[in-house]
Amino acid sequence: MKYRTSQFDDQLTFIMSNPNSRQTKPGITGHLEFYREKGISPVRQDLSDMGRHLARREALYRSMGLLPMTFRDRTVLEVAPGSGDNSLFVAACNPKVFDLLEPNPVAIDDIETLYRSFDTPHRNPKVIPEKLEDFQPEAAYDVILCEGWLGGSDKERQLLGKLSGFVAPEGALVISFLPVVGAVPTMLRRLLAYRILSADADFETQTGILTAAFGTHLDTMPKMSRAHASWVQDNILNPAVLAQVLLPKTVFETLGDDFTIYGSNPRLFTDWRWYKSVSGEAHEENALFLEAFEGSAHNFLDYRIAHPPRDAEANRVLEAASLALYEAVPEAEGEGTDTYEKRIAPHLRVIIENLADIAPETVKGLEEAQALLERETLGVGDIAEASLFAGLFGREMCYLTLTRRA
Ligand SMILES: C[S@@+](CC[C@H](N)C(=O)[O-])C[C@H]1O[C@@H](n2cnc3c(N)ncnc32)[C@H](O)[C@@H]1O
Repeated sequence: MKYRTSQFDDQLTFIMSNPNSRQTKPGITGHLEFYREKGISPVRQDLSDMGRHLARREALYRSMGLLPMTFRDRTVLEVAPGSGDNSLFVAACNPKVFDLLEPNPVAIDDIETLYRSFDTPHRNPKVIPEKLEDFQPEAAYDVILCEGWLGGSDKERQLLGKLSGFVAPEGALVISFLPVVGAVPTMLRRLLAYRILSADADFETQTGILTAAFGTHLDTMPKMSRAHASWVQDNILNPAVLAQVLLPKTVFETLGDDFTIYGSNPRLFTDWRWYKSVSGEAHEENALFLEAFEGSAHNFLDYRIAHPPRDAEANRVLEAASLALYEAVPEAEGEGTDTYEKRIAPHLRVIIENLADIAPETVKGLEEAQALLERETLGVGDIAEASLFAGLFGREMCYLTLTRRA
């Protein structure tokens, strides 16, 4: 399989920078439509050990350069908090103002219940039951958080642009992004899932079948803090995941030169500029980050691996093949082996070949998924017992902290 890999190939550069721009993906509905239709908010975390939950959140923010004092006495907006579990740490930092913008009624009920039993001293948030599309704040915020929602579709890029306009000068915007390479394992799981699901089965039954199929996979992640049924509903049954890839390059293009990269999770950025020369334009810092991101793209396919940066050309091939696979999933989901062979298999072969020398465990997992997808018949047990693929999950949810210039 030949991909265009020259960095001077404008079209590839365009596609890579905005992977959703050329796919219209008819029929793909967003998170909110899906949650409302099913009456769910499938984002609950394991809060049985609240101290552990808060420590996990503190460590995540710290890794992105945000200390508790970043939130203390500041005005903070969290957009799309879902059931609010992640907001608890920020509330416990005592911001001056803490607004949660969340339009899903089930999530709003969850937030209210959650805060009633939260006994760590905290600032109670104000819940604003609106969509971002309809929201206009009275004043800009010092810190804005938006996690696990916005992808790279034209509509969501516009919303990201709108959101960035609410950040005060010198304030911070924290968003999650989803690298296309990191999306590959979930895309393969979706393809497997829709082979074993019957379209007639109701939502609860589908959730049960998929929890049985993927429970052994999720059990391989000792730090997993989400309920299995929630993971299945939000990653496999939720169509919005098919448009959720968002690359840092797309973020920088959308936000323009007013926003400078400040931190990320995973941390990627080593800056060897002499201390007297670190002051630069936003686009210089952002370009350094993109270079680091590109050199590490191979580490996003499997959360278990962390290799040194490698040849950017090899990573461009990996990204292009991952993008082609991701874009083919909507039409291959629920189809048989013929469609798989035509639309998915060529890209999966390129990915396997690309990683063969550096990531043998990852490759074994991919080959096992490949073998399953080549089979005419597949059952829950085949997926549950796929011991080599079971532990392979991509680095999907990644974070950026950006600061707005004065
Ligand atoms: C995948 S959940 C993420 C929840 C939470 N941030 C987390 O990471 O667990 C996506 C969230 O986006 C919210 N959402 C979807 N469309 C929205 C919109 N137009 N305006 C504001 N929030 C929206 C949903 O209601 C849901 O809570």
